[in-house]
Amino acid sequence: MTLARICALVCGAGAATLLILVDAYIGPQANPRPTQPGFFLIVVVAAASIGGWAARFLRRPIDDLIRATRATERASVWPSLTPGAPHELHDLNRALADSQERNERVVQSLAEERFRFQGIFDSMTEAILVTDEQGRIVLTNRALTDLFGIDDTNYGLRPEDVIRSAAICESVDEVLVSRLRVASEVPLPGVTPRHLDVRVAPIVDEDRLVGSVTVLYDITNLRRLERTRADFVANVSHELRTPLTAIRGSAETLADGALEDRDAAGRFVAVINSHAKRLTNLLDDLLDLSRLESDELQIDVHNHALASLIEAAQEAVEETRQGKRIEIQVQLEDPSTSVRCDRQLIEQTLINLMDNAIKYTPEDGRIAIRTYRAEREHVAGELLKHDLALGVDAAQNSADALFIEVTDSGIGIPPDVLDRVFERFYRVDKGRSREMGGTGLGLAIVRHALSLHGEHVFVDSSPGSGSTFGFTLAVD
Ligand SMILES: Nc1ncnc2c1ncn2[C@@H]1O[C@H](COP(=O)(O)OP(=O)(O)OP(=O)(O)O)[C@@H](O)[C@H]1O
Ligand SMILES: [Mg+2]
Repeated sequence: MTLARICALVCGAGAATLLILVDAYIGPQANPRPTQPGFFLIVVVAAASIGGWAARFLRRPIDDLIRATRATERASVWPSLTPGAPHELHDLNRALADSQERNERVVQSLAEERFRFQGIFDSMTEAILVTDEQGRIVLTNRALTDLFGIDDTNYGLRPEDVIRSAAICESVDEVLVSRLRVASEVPLPGVTPRHLDVRVAPIVDEDRLVGSVTVLYDITNLRRLERTRADFVANVSHELRTPLTAIRGSAETLADGALEDRDAAGRFVAVINSHAKRLTNLLDDLLDLSRLESDELQIDVHNHALASLIEAAQEAVEETRQGKRIEIQVQLEDPSTSVRCDRQLIEQTLINLMDNAIKYTPEDGRIAIRTYRAEREHVAGELLKHDLALGVDAAQNSADALFIEVTDSGIGIPPDVLDRVFERFYRVDKGRSREMGGTGLGLAIVRHALSLHGEHVFVDSSPGSGSTFGFTLAVD
């Protein structure tokens, strides 16, 4: 029933009651009786019309209120009522406006809270997956998007619909059934295999299971470091054991009587001497490497004449070169060039490369040392011409570069192992390198020395026809 009808009925009923009372009170004394049926009808109709008018008068502010309430989503200010409206309706309007303002503040602070929460969530390194009690995804963060490509468009799906790891999905299911935490390490096969530390916990609210939260942490690098460290210890132990065994064997043979035989004694002492030398080389290389890898190492960069660096390195390998009658040619594009570098590290780099070139080149072979300059914007292009180049992104170079190459006519390196020669202890032919006193650390030292300079190292090689190892240095 509308407000107009209610008012008309109320007024009509009021008028009729009034007439009946008048009739009952005055009627018996009056003649003729005042409440004839026609008069009665006129009074009721008039009363109903007054009721209708009153209803319309009341209706306007109420309509305003209804409109205001409906418009709150769009309106920034709560509308006021028409001035003539009853003050009770004005009170009601003010109460509604206050309540609306409070609601807006609550909604605003909830939105801010959610924004902050998602920001914290997204900045976490751990990937997070939250499900409801049915196992449907309800919340994720950016790390999870990076890991599995899941985001809010996947909300409502189950983990097995979007995560390609049965172990993770089963852990979520298991926790939703048992309500007990689960922790496991999950390998993720793929182009770049990964290792994840996965922890799933139930979300319980006053004894009622409301969902699960899974935290995934990428421990691939951690595992790789552990493996590298374990390999390193195994390699060092192995490298130490070989010369020590030879030294011990020779010493025991001498003690068992070989000492009396001058010729034999001389041979065994020579063996002891050569293996002791090898041990010293190994320890020197290990110390160099650990110094290069330590975070505290500060390189001492100055301008140095390239020619003098190359001469110093040549002097250091002169004895070995002469022993194999190898010819070294030096072709410097500009003999007066100076390079910006740490003198000791770059001299060591040149010695290591020249030592390898001599070691892996047969007697009477040839070695060439060549340099050429490349402008800053051409450095990346020049590096791409080589079989393998390692170092930071060449596009970041801020100076022209001098390319320094050591080319030999030696045994060369098979292409499938080319990228491994810079690994610590890696030797293409273990027996052969060891015979030559190699520890497999020389190129690892070269790589570290250049990476400390922010420079590149590169190599070209083909088995049987020789190799070129080279590096870049900044020039003015
Ligand atoms: N110029 C080269 N020609 C052919 N093979 C090479 C050359 N330089 C390096 N290699 C290969 O790369 C491996 C690693 O070289 P690296 O200099 O690190 O170790 P190494 O020479 O064996 O020992 P050292 O630690 O005494 O230098 C060598 O064992 C060798 O197999
Ligand atoms: Mg070497």
